[in-house]
Amino acid sequence: MAEIISLPKPNKTGSMPLEQAIAVRRSRRHFLPKSLTLEQIGQLAWSAQGLDEGGRYRTAPSAGATYPLELFVVTNEDFSRYLPAKHALDKLASQDLRATLASAAWGQEFIQTAPLTLVFAAEFSRTTGRYGKRGVRYVYMEAGHAAQNIHLQAEALGLGSVAVGAFDDAAVSTVLSLPDNLEPIYMVTAGYCR
Ligand SMILES: Cc1cc2nc3c(=O)[nH]c(=O)nc-3n(C[C@H](O)[C@H](O)[C@H](O)COP(=O)(O)O)c2cc1C
Repeated sequence: MAEIISLPKPNKTGSMPLEQAIAVRRSRRHFLPKSLTLEQIGQLAWSAQGLDEGGRYRTAPSAGATYPLELFVVTNEDFSRYLPAKHALDKLASQDLRATLASAAWGQEFIQTAPLTLVFAAEFSRTTGRYGKRGVRYVYMEAGHAAQNIHLQAEALGLGSVAVGAFDDAAVSTVLSLPDNLEPIYMVTAGYCR
């Protein structure tokens, strides 16, 4: 299935000051089963891995600009991969994978209720190829930077989010049919909250 879905241009002048987003951020797990718009999904994906104006660098820092992360987008309707260079989604399946993803995350139920989970998968060799063993820690640090952007962006959009590090790697790889070169390392679940 090859369907490229263009995302609306990311908004770079939101109405919530950064300090306020930092001050109000909390892990939120009580999600409403309300879909997000493509604009909201695109904005969250952009905050994590979008390109800057020049098209060379991304919204989150990367050791040596090696960019080991790939971002997968699980919604209540479909499953896609975010394409930073196009600011688009490459739809991989028209299927709601949330229940199986929640099972792979040791039954964390909010993953099934929330309309969106962004999954970071890493190709470690992109970074270890340059930095050797030390590159492994750089990859995890980078995922933290990108995830924090999502948390703050979610707050600025009036949404809530929570980091998810507790999951069975092999089970998540199976649910998302990840290729052998990619390992799931982190997730952020987001949506409207009670
Ligand atoms: C690396 C990492 C992994 C986490 N994994 C999970 C998780 O699997 N499930 C969950 O509900 N919260 C998870 N959290 C969220 C923490 O529980 C939360 O940040 C902590 O309780 C502090 O609350 P706060 O985020 O509201 O400040 C994770 C946080 C981090 C930084």
